[in-house]
Amino acid sequence: MAAQSGKSWVLAVTAQTPTNIAVIKYWGKRDEELILPINDSISVTLDPDHLCTTTSVAVSPAFTHDRMWLNGKEVSLSGGRYQNCLRELRSRASDVEDEQKGVKITKKDWEKLHVHIVSYNNFPTAAGLASSAAGLACLVFSLAKLMNVKDDHSRLSAIARQGSGSACRSLYGGFVKWIMGKEENGSDSIAVQLADEKHWDDLVIIIAVVSSRQKETSSTSGMRETVETSMLIEHRAKEVVPKRIVKMEEAIENRDFPAFARLTCADSNQFHAVCLDTSPPIFYMNDTSHRIISCVEKWNRFEGTPQVAYTFDAGPNAVLISHNRKAAALLLQRLLFYFPPQADADLNSYVIGDKTILQDAGIQNVKDIEALTPPPEIKDNTQTQKYTGDVSYFICTRPGRGPVVLTDESRSLINPETGLPK
Ligand code: ADE
Repeated sequence: MAAQSGKSWVLAVTAQTPTNIAVIKYWGKRDEELILPINDSISVTLDPDHLCTTTSVAVSPAFTHDRMWLNGKEVSLSGGRYQNCLRELRSRASDVEDEQKGVKITKKDWEKLHVHIVSYNNFPTAAGLASSAAGLACLVFSLAKLMNVKDDHSRLSAIARQGSGSACRSLYGGFVKWIMGKEENGSDSIAVQLADEKHWDDLVIIIAVVSSRQKETSSTSGMRETVETSMLIEHRAKEVVPKRIVKMEEAIENRDFPAFARLTCADSNQFHAVCLDTSPPIFYMNDTSHRIISCVEKWNRFEGTPQVAYTFDAGPNAVLISHNRKAAALLLQRLLFYFPPQADADLNSYVIGDKTILQDAGIQNVKDIEALTPPPEIKDNTQTQKYTGDVSYFICTRPGRGPVVLTDESRSLINPETGLPK
């Protein structure tokens, strides 16, 4: 087999992969096993400096079985989705040679060798921020590098898709389309990049992580129930989304923010309408989500042209995409006016990510939030009620890059001697 006779070795690769937010939503599968969707979707990749997964993968003849540790705890890899990704990657692995270590692995060796996977998300998994998208994309990307899989990102996206549908879109930075495909085997259900993150770098994204006590319906079962019981979903998938995809691609190409914002909000609202049309109905948004929509709608109407777009996934968190830094600062003032931190809270942990937006909003401390006046679009006093504690925290971010290999050994999560988590 592999490598230098007699001596054990560990070969490792570390990668970082972003998460993404869909602006034309994926909801509903035509094949549950292969994770094939009933419509195309489009997403914006989020800056990995603020939201990402880092994964180290290693191979060694000393490993006795495939193992994974997620956020410091060992987790099982026995699930079908992980197994499908591992099988697909092994079948595409190539020869690997590391002269320094005296390691030579042949294509055939990969069938017998085992891997260790150590992964961390830099945001709470429980915050409902699509951690599985970044996580599965990172797992596939890092293992593909370790195993010298020669397929391009689109082919890798088809493997990541089998781990978690929306993971396929995290294989690229910027603006990404997941093409639903027609083939029964899913070979043409892949992600492609529409434009990189530099194409439209004025956009600023603010995520409101909304406090929730409610146990949410998982996306997998929610989608299944919608496809089985909703009449609206067929109209959405066949009539509405195909036209919206064309318009959204145009809006992104032309950096047409009003069109982008209208399409994004309309698609989020239709996705949640389809959830309500499911039997029994699925509620992902809560009162706080609705208040955020109302705040944005009122402001956009007052300005006469959209300043900010909102979109909500399968949970109550709001993802707010603003036209530029100026609009983002004005948005943050509004959000902090309605959703101030609790009295003992630290502003630094209440607004995280790109802090310069907070500076642009003229907010240095909690006193500055108390001094905020009601936004001018509020004509009477009915909407000036405050909802302290209803938002856990805000993340300021922007469109970001795709996956990268981290070559700096200090970034590895795996001990190079033992092959176990550091
Ligand atoms: N699910 C959620 N986060 C993940 C990660 N980082 N790796 C694999 N699966 C995940």
